[in-house]
Amino acid sequence: MTDVTTQSAGEATTGSPAALLDIQGIEVIYDEVILVLRGLSLSVPEGKVVALLGSNGAGKSTTLKAVSGLLTTERGEVSDGAILFDGQDITHVDPAKRVQSGLSLCMEGRHVFEHLTVHENLIAGAYGRRGGDKSDYDLVYEYFPKLADMRARIAGYLSGGEQQMLAIGRALMAKPRLLMLDEPSLGLAPMLVQEIFGYIRRLNHETGLTVLVIEQNARRALEVADHGYIMEQGRVVIDGSAQELAENPDVKEFYLGMGDAGRKSYRDVKHYRRRKRWL
Ligand SMILES: Nc1ncnc2c1ncn2[C@@H]1O[C@H](COP(=O)(O)OP(=O)(O)O)[C@@H](O)[C@H]1O
Ligand SMILES: [Mg+2]
Repeated sequence: MTDVTTQSAGEATTGSPAALLDIQGIEVIYDEVILVLRGLSLSVPEGKVVALLGSNGAGKSTTLKAVSGLLTTERGEVSDGAILFDGQDITHVDPAKRVQSGLSLCMEGRHVFEHLTVHENLIAGAYGRRGGDKSDYDLVYEYFPKLADMRARIAGYLSGGEQQMLAIGRALMAKPRLLMLDEPSLGLAPMLVQEIFGYIRRLNHETGLTVLVIEQNARRALEVADHGYIMEQGRVVIDGSAQELAENPDVKEFYLGMGDAGRKSYRDVKHYRRRKRWL
């Protein structure tokens, strides 16, 4: 377990050699003045599931947008630091090239093409990569058999959970080496959340897919992840193995809602309540 707040900037930038994604002390600025990421470092080892946790506004989505190269459309830019993918500096590389090199982002809020069928959505997901061949569709339909049954249905009529599966399936059509998911469980019933996380785990185990997942529900995320990072105000404040984080008293108290709030000062309790909102 590393307490990143006590590390020097130099130490924080050294990722493990096997890291597929290595974010090295990035700063992100929106509209040329709003500093949102303040020296964020994290790394995702090949073949692992890493969870990025933190309360609303911490900068989690901004981090994934920086990795995918989607900040420019929001008047944001990486103003310092570097993002390495498979050892290559991709900090300022064109987003389409990043997709081709194996980065795929499944954005928050299930962005499916509502007027297209399920299958057409998957075809769209293969665009920009090498084009989908049959085995790609087969893989998605194997992991999401419900999608196979509904392949001719118009995506806009699917339920929230089905659309989320389709959004993930579409991201998989790009044949990613790293799949990034921004709050895949948002707005879903607990049973469906369980199902979606089950798929993520299976994909990781069976295909070796590397995953970086943003999640508001820390408890749920730490059940599927190998490693977790907790962000606050544009920086990583704690990171560790999922088990270490789940057992860490501060994490338990502030992020898992299991602490003894009665022993804390008023300020801490206020703090605690604020954090507890997103559990
Ligand atoms: N396009 C934008 N322009 C200006 N500020 C933004 C923009 N997008 C996000 N922010 C700000 O950046 C901060 C982090 O946002 P975000 O990355 O969405 O956090 P999270 O995903 O952790 O909730 C927030 O304060 C948010 O208001
Ligand atoms: Mg977000």
